[in-house]
This record gives sequence, structure tokens and C-alpha cells, in this order.
Amino acid sequence: MVTSHRSRVVIVGTGSVGAATAGAIVLQGLCDELVLINHNPDKASGLAMDLMDGSDYTGRFVSIRRGDWADCRDADIVIVTAGPKPKPGETRFQELGAAVDIVDPILCAIRDSGFDGILIMVSNPVDVLSWFAWKRTGLPRAQVIGSGTALDTSRMKAIIGDITRLDPRMVSGYVIGEHGDSQFVPWSTVSFVGKSFTRYLQDNRSRYVDITLDGIEERTRRRGLLIKSLRGGTSQGIAATVAGLARTILWDERRVVPVSTLIDGEYEYDEHDVFLSLPVALNADGVGDFVDLHLDESELAKFHRSARIVREHCAMIAD
Ligand code: 2OP
Repeated sequence: MVTSHRSRVVIVGTGSVGAATAGAIVLQGLCDELVLINHNPDKASGLAMDLMDGSDYTGRFVSIRRGDWADCRDADIVIVTAGPKPKPGETRFQELGAAVDIVDPILCAIRDSGFDGILIMVSNPVDVLSWFAWKRTGLPRAQVIGSGTALDTSRMKAIIGDITRLDPRMVSGYVIGEHGDSQFVPWSTVSFVGKSFTRYLQDNRSRYVDITLDGIEERTRRRGLLIKSLRGGTSQGIAATVAGLARTILWDERRVVPVSTLIDGEYEYDEHDVFLSLPVALNADGVGDFVDLHLDESELAKFHRSARIVREHCAMIAD
């Protein structure tokens, strides 16, 4: 009798982001079992049935069902997407109070279930809520991450791909810091087609006359708000990103990704505990080795500024 571990992912919140994330996970056949939890059980049941209906055409059979908090106990990954519906023009920080009211009981229920896997926070403001989740669940640092700037990094690459008409996956580099206005790209560490991206732009200046590093960074930073203004919110990019993080963990890929993690002196920031995105190796146990990008002075200052902004908001919700 082959006794193999059956991988289980639980998604809490089946709104647009949760539903899109569930779809991405099912289409890629990333786990054996997908369990959906929503404060309105009918929404979870309906989504489970809707996802099951495509089973004949997905990469691999995934058992999908509505579940409850007891299902978190033996889950490998719990993904929290529940949060207030974004309001037009509202920043992620402005959602903080309403978001805490929603995620606090969820985090207590996950903790009380005996869950000891990897918790992926997606709800915004994701850095503050990842810190809050770490405090509330008592899970070890390695087992609590936020989607953070993993999405923004993919956006930065997509924008460069759009500008250069080349495969965005050839960009090696990261957006780091807050998943929000104080995020930034340490351009000194970004490479593209075998050279620094700065050098690539210089070598092709005639082709990219009006393209600047600041311009790419600003387009990346504003991307979420632009999409929200066009279609009311984002879901597909974040879903692909979160499914990618889940795959890296479930398949122990050891991929280096910028996720929101507890900063513990990295980049010389040791003022307070705070969650911020920086590149780490993700593996089956969660956050592995931290990658030191050797930021220059101005980049270090940007990172510390971002940390202080997030820290201010963590202090607003500290018990
Ligand atoms: C985004 O940037 C909503 O934070 C999410 O798309």
C-alpha cells in the first residue's frame, strides 16, 4: 500500500481574489485537496462545485470541497484572502481597521485548530496583517508570509517585457519593501539579458528614448490602483502570484521570491519587529535563506523608510 502524504491547501475567503487563487491552484493541479472557507458557507459550496465542474480538463484531479476550521489542522498551507471590499480611491492602509475586524477571528480560529503549516496572508494591507498574523497565531517566523511584493515584482517584469517586447521572465530582480507606496526597485541589483538593466537601457537608448527607471518603478507602484479604476479591483495577477508561492512551498522548489517576512536585522534594520518584502528562498518549511542584495546607501535608506511606514501601522493595531 503506497502511503503518500495528501497535500491540503485551505483558502479562507472566496471573494474575487480567493476564487481566482483557487482557480489557479486547481488548473495547475498543485495539491491533492483544496478546502474553501467563507463566512457565507453557500459561497464556498458554490465555488467548490463550480471548480469541480472543470475537472475533466484540468492538469490533475484535485479534490475540492467546502470546509471549516477543523480542516486547517492538517493543512500544509492556509491562504487568507478575506478582507473588506476595496473602495474606489482608498489606499490599502485605509482598509486597516475594517481588515483587522475581519481577519482577527479568522486567525484565532486557524490558531485554535492546531494548524502548524505555512500561513500565506494576502489580505491588505498585507505587510501589517502578516505581522498581525504572526503575533496572533504564534507560528514561527518561517511559517508566516505575506504575498507582499511578489506581485509587484511580477508586475515590474511584465512592464519591462511590454516595453522591450522580450520575455519578462528574463528579468532578474525584485521590488522590495512595503506592498504599497513606499515599495522600490533596487535597480543596482536588476539584470536583464546578461547585463545590468541600467546598462541595457543605456545600450539601447535610441530605442527607449522616454523610458526611465523611475518611470518603470512608478508604473509598477500604481498598477494595482490603475486596474482597480478600470475593473473595480485586481484578482488575476495576485492569484497567479499566490498559486506560485504555494507551488514553491508544496513542491519544495527553493525558489527565491520577495515575500513579506519578519525582518530580523536584515539590511541593518533592527528598530522593531516588522514584516516587509525582501528576497528569500521559499521551501517546504516556509522561509529559508535570506538573500543579501548588497543595497547601496540610497537603497538602504529607502528600505528603512518603508519599514518605518509599515511599523507605524503595526503599532496602531498592537494589543
Ligand atoms: C494589488 O496590488 C490589491 O494589493 C493588491 O493588486
